[in-house]
Amino acid sequence: MARRVLHDQYFKQAKAEGYLARSAYKLTELDERFKLIRKGSRILDLGCAPGSWLQVAAERVGESGVVVGIDLKRVDAKLAPQVATLVGDIEQTAPEALTELAAGLFDLVLSDMAPNTSGHGDDLVSARLCRRVLALLPGLLAPGRGLAMKILEGQEYPGVLRETKRLFRDAQGFKPKASREVSSEMYIVGKGYAGPAQREAGTGGDAG
Ligand SMILES: C[S@@+](CC[C@H](N)C(=O)[O-])C[C@H]1O[C@@H](n2cnc3c(N)ncnc32)[C@H](O)[C@@H]1O
Repeated sequence: MARRVLHDQYFKQAKAEGYLARSAYKLTELDERFKLIRKGSRILDLGCAPGSWLQVAAERVGESGVVVGIDLKRVDAKLAPQVATLVGDIEQTAPEALTELAAGLFDLVLSDMAPNTSGHGDDLVSARLCRRVLALLPGLLAPGRGLAMKILEGQEYPGVLRETKRLFRDAQGFKPKASREVSSEMYIVGKGYAGPAQREAGTGGDAG
């Protein structure tokens, strides 16, 4: 049973198509549904290891784009020249360390970060990571641009969604088909970032 679940359709497809993880199809689905990635875009991928979102993002931005990734773990795979990665903890990383690799603010911030443990309270850790992402946005994301971040559904999910809505023109939750049915993961997608002024005005003040 566990073997059957592990080697599902997306796992086999990822192996056949040369992606580092089945998660690749979650990003392709998010992009197809929300039109997040454009040729030439600057994309930040938080929690990027082993690197399948970096692969998908690099294909979609093309050689004129930039993809920057950060993870607690090193990304060992050889990736396209438009990809740069850092090892680091997002809870202790300053936005400048990321924007300097892209020479500017990003057009899209992605986060597939998930707690490394799998036990009681993972949803709370996930919500904390999401709030860290929201708090970093003023130093990372260009006004008008987008966000897609994973959250494990739990008691904090409605609050994080509400906080994201305050910062974006539109924000909603989405569960890709490629997410395992048993998983509590959802993605919060925001489009039309209001920019730092919105936070300073107090309308997004509890997002950090
Ligand atoms: C589900 S994996 C990401 C998979 C990736 N999107 C891919 O397609 O290859 C989640 C990642 O989040 C990373 N992570 C968790 N907490 C983090 C933190 N505080 N800072 C940076 N990365 C973190 C983990 O190390 C893990 O590699």
